[in-house]
Amino acid sequence: MTIESFSPTETRRAAGKVLRRILLVKKRNEAAVVSLDGNLGSGKTVFIKGLAAALGIKERVLSPTFLIMRSFKIRKKKIPFKRFYHIDAYRLRSGRELLDLGIKEVLADKSNLVAVEWADRIVRLLPKERVSLSFAHGKKENERIIKIK
Ligand SMILES: Nc1ncnc2c1ncn2[C@@H]1O[C@H](COP(=O)(O)OP(=O)(O)OP(=O)(O)O)[C@@H](O)[C@H]1O
Ligand SMILES: [Mg+2]
Repeated sequence: MTIESFSPTETRRAAGKVLRRILLVKKRNEAAVVSLDGNLGSGKTVFIKGLAAALGIKERVLSPTFLIMRSFKIRKKKIPFKRFYHIDAYRLRSGRELLDLGIKEVLADKSNLVAVEWADRIVRLLPKERVSLSFAHGKKENERIIKIK
């Protein structure tokens, strides 16, 4: 599926749609994973902010430039996850760093929802079964093309 977005608001709204799709999976054995790839400024962090909002997370979700992994508690009753993880692999030198941060345990826990920016850098660590998003700039200034697989 392809979504065309013409504003940050539309990109945040697209995250709500993707969340509904994730919630359709009834039985899970491990964490739900959303991978986000695409150029600098293509809207990955904006999308993740929308995802966090849809999960009822009130804390500000920043681009974790100096942090590889941040996690947030999910308090919304209707959401079948307990924690939301935001990983940004941009500055990662090796997958080892993430292993040291406990990525395996995070991914093994079905109560986690994990969103990964620059996911192709750590693709070997991620489960094949995930929602893969690719972001690209469109022709117009605020246009972004989001492909969902
Ligand atoms: N349709 C749109 N969707 C999302 N962001 C948009 C859109 N139009 C303009 N923008 C702007 O583009 C920028 C997207 O930045 P964002 O941090 O989300 O990119 P990113 O893909 O996470 O980049 P990076 O790889 O550096 O982390 C923001 O400044 C946002 O306001
Ligand atoms: Mg970003």
